[in-house]
Amino acid sequence: MDVTVRRRGIAAAAMAVALLMGCEQKSDVGGPFTLTDHTGARVTEADFRGQPMVIYFGFTYCPDVCPLSLQKLAIAMDMLGEDAKALQPILISLDPERDSPEQMALYVESNGFPPNLVGLTGTPEEIDAVAQAYRVFHRKVEEPESAAGYLIEHTSVFYLMDQRGRFVTVFSHSQDPQSIAEELRRFLTARGLAG
Ligand code: NI
Repeated sequence: MDVTVRRRGIAAAAMAVALLMGCEQKSDVGGPFTLTDHTGARVTEADFRGQPMVIYFGFTYCPDVCPLSLQKLAIAMDMLGEDAKALQPILISLDPERDSPEQMALYVESNGFPPNLVGLTGTPEEIDAVAQAYRVFHRKVEEPESAAGYLIEHTSVFYLMDQRGRFVTVFSHSQDPQSIAEELRRFLTARGLAG
């Protein structure tokens, strides 16, 4: 990936986080969605009720930011030990054109990602809707000379949603795993979900 494109992507992501943090109400972030999981099943946000979700938006062809972020989440969750089982990590694709359920299945099971990572994809309309609900910036960038053909610039943050699907906070992908683990543990303890 071209360094300029990546820098632009990171700057855009930082801006999106700033916008997100400026949201008047926490209830402005998140909401209902209907998507397809990596087994091909249709799912909605209601299927995840009862379990706090850690949601990341990205795409499987992402050369660096997505895999590094998901590996970081895996390390943070590993630090939580058994308590991590209370959390449902989710990757939502911003590249519905290429990220079929089959492609998502191969991806979520690889690369040292959280062991119970669920991959969600959908139609371009469904993806636009969920991205908008979560205030996720995403933009297709043509890269005609690269093998991938195009990339998606996107916000790179983890959304922590509580057992009822309500927004709690975001973690930046630049936070270290230790501090993410500490915040997750504080949340789980406060909700009586830590062992
Ligand atoms: Ni990415």
